[in-house]
Amino acid sequence: ALARRLDRPIVLVGMMGVGKSSVGKRLASILECSFVDADDEIERSAQMTIPEIFEAYGEGFFRDGERRVIARLMAENKGCIVIATGGGAFVNDETRALILDKAVTIWLDSELDTLVERTARKDNRPLLRDGNPREILSRLRETRRPFYAQAPIHILSGTGPLIQTINKVLQELS
Ligand code: S3P
Repeated sequence: ALARRLDRPIVLVGMMGVGKSSVGKRLASILECSFVDADDEIERSAQMTIPEIFEAYGEGFFRDGERRVIARLMAENKGCIVIATGGGAFVNDETRALILDKAVTIWLDSELDTLVERTARKDNRPLLRDGNPREILSRLRETRRPFYAQAPIHILSGTGPLIQTINKVLQELS
């Protein structure tokens, strides 16, 4: 069953700070798949950071670029691939439809406290810059939940070691 699952890209969705990149990287190495972080890929192709893109062109422009990058990553994969997406990607109707159609989608979920703590480590998220990060994260977490819940696989990531989350994912995939 696992081998059949790996025919399609594995796409991680969920809130900022939930650990999509850390989980994705480790999962890919265990499965011997390649790993791509869609946010990194957007920055590379735009030759700008995400805060710069938001600042210069706005969120709508970013979402279009994000959709194109994710579509390309899902289409060009030779061999298996794990893709970590930015927290808002799956909320965009077209991007979500594309991902649900082409990938094995995993919603990585966690408590609000975990998101607050993890996002505080880096100031690279434009959406958290104009207000209280906890309030913004709490609101986004609630409004985005119905979208994330459309992913067929739901994994709760606790505060324990990464390998616990990875094991849950591997169980769901097998
Ligand atoms: C965003 C999440 C970020 C990044 C951008 C917007 C969001 O990615 O794409 O700042 O709308 O939740 P991470 O989920 O990797 O932080």
